[in-house]
Amino acid sequence: MDVHHPSDIQQLQRYPWFHFLAVLGALYLGAVTLRLLSYLGLPNLVRRPTDLRRRYGAWAVVTGPTSGIGRSMAFELARRGLNVVLVGRDPDKLRDVSDTIAKTHAGVQTKTVVFDLSVVSTAQGEEAMRRLREAVDGLEVGVLVNNAGVAKPCAVYLHEFDVDAWVKMIRVNLWALTEVTAAVLPGMVARRRGAITTGNSTFV
Ligand SMILES: NC(=O)c1ccc[n+]([C@@H]2O[C@H](COP(=O)([O-])OP(=O)(O)OC[C@H]3O[C@@H](n4cnc5c(N)ncnc54)[C@H](OP(=O)(O)O)[C@@H]3O)[C@@H](O)[C@H]2O)c1
Repeated sequence: MDVHHPSDIQQLQRYPWFHFLAVLGALYLGAVTLRLLSYLGLPNLVRRPTDLRRRYGAWAVVTGPTSGIGRSMAFELARRGLNVVLVGRDPDKLRDVSDTIAKTHAGVQTKTVVFDLSVVSTAQGEEAMRRLREAVDGLEVGVLVNNAGVAKPCAVYLHEFDVDAWVKMIRVNLWALTEVTAAVLPGMVARRRGAITTGNSTFV
């Protein structure tokens, strides 16, 4: 049967199942088109990005902003208009990130806090925590990115690695994370807004 002939299509249209199949086909085509557009990222192009500053507050705190994901997060938050407190262990790297943000995002403020998170809970760590609390004191910190982390010795059994390395990982990935979060959380709770992301990995 040659269905391309107009009179044949007119004949087919008399049958109810023809309309049912036509609607089904149109729905399927629509669904495929939507999936394709979504895959190509179209919704992100038409949707206005959330105004993070308005939604959460003027400042973000990023731990481990000196490389990888943390560095990208710090730049992205600065691009979105947030001022950033950069918390890391290497003063030169922190200065580099801070200077680059200042150059590329005029009007965005940065503060740096030198803090080797693996010394948390020691006297040196207490001093660093004091400096961090002082740095965020009075700031409207709306976003905390708990990014700094140690992913070594990787997923191995406890006895297969040096216990000091495990302890260091626990200090950085859990203990310091808890203390840093506790330093900014009360402000968020008081303002009833804030966002905390925790990306570090812990193999314990
Ligand atoms: N990449 C992945 O596929 C992946 C997947 C899941 C989870 N993660 C987690 O996501 C986080 C970032 O990953 P990444 O790949 O971007 O890692 P990365 O490039 O190694 O960056 C880690 C960051 O954490 C900082 N850091 C490490 N130890 C620190 C310490 N004792 N005190 C202060 N800062 C310290 C580093 O500072 P320095 O620059 O001074 O070294 C650096 O800025 C890590 O916590 C990782 O476990 C990563």
